[in-house]
Amino acid sequence: MTQISETSENLEDLHARAMAAAGYIHSVARIQPKLGLILGSGLGDFAESVQDATVIPYSEIPNFPISTVAGHSGQLVLGRIGDIPVAVMQGRVHAYEGYSMKQVTFPTRVLGLLGVERLIITNAAGGINPGYGQGAIVALADHINLTGTNALIGPNEPRFGDRFFDMTHAYSPAFRKLAIEEASKQGWKLEEGVYVAVLGPSYETPAEIRAFRILGGDLVGMSTVHEVIAARHMGIEILGLSIVTNMAAGVLDQPINHEEVMETGKRIAGQFTSLLTALIPQLVTQPATS
Ligand code: HPA
Repeated sequence: MTQISETSENLEDLHARAMAAAGYIHSVARIQPKLGLILGSGLGDFAESVQDATVIPYSEIPNFPISTVAGHSGQLVLGRIGDIPVAVMQGRVHAYEGYSMKQVTFPTRVLGLLGVERLIITNAAGGINPGYGQGAIVALADHINLTGTNALIGPNEPRFGDRFFDMTHAYSPAFRKLAIEEASKQGWKLEEGVYVAVLGPSYETPAEIRAFRILGGDLVGMSTVHEVIAARHMGIEILGLSIVTNMAAGVLDQPINHEEVMETGKRIAGQFTSLLTALIPQLVTQPATS
């Protein structure tokens, strides 16, 4: 009994803490973002494309978790891409840093409370599908959560969403189609794939990667799925984009290192920026499907 009421208090607290963070952000940047964007490892440069930007370091936002990983600068950039008001997270926290999944998904909750109804979630991932090359960009079609946990464990907070909710179209098919068409207009192929989420921080073993491939995975990474779960809980439509920063363990006979992951992100930054810049206005005018 005691345990349940303690958890309920924490939950009440979670909503109040997210409201406090959203209230602070609103008081600094008087803008109502229509679209949110979470930039993964090595992909933070896109935030420089935001016009009329107000930059808020995560450390100034009440209750916001702060990343400890190189390559994640940790600031929220509010402004416009074209005519579209956006909230861009330059960096995120991961469970392998010691954060709980509630903390990992806290910024997603705050984006939802700021009014974001559409969200682009990006990440660096290892390529399992041998058809991908290093530097490929992949639109996520689905995911397999192998982290063994879920950010929504515990009593449900109805102000965020329902206890049980559908994940059939966790990644909006309409958004994916627009992204594939836009990449094709820009002269390159946006791949599609299934993202397998693990906790990390160690990269996988070759046997794990072989197993993930049998399970139907095309990519592997250490983020994204819990943000997607929290966003879907709030009815937010999602486009997931992975950059294949390296081929997963054992696909090529070479070790993986974090520097390589960061370098690949930087190398395709221009391509990634052109895609996002053209796509964001299209996603916002697309009618909502959930
Ligand atoms: N495995 C897990 N996470 C990753 C990888 C990988 O190979 N590359 C980038 N993030």
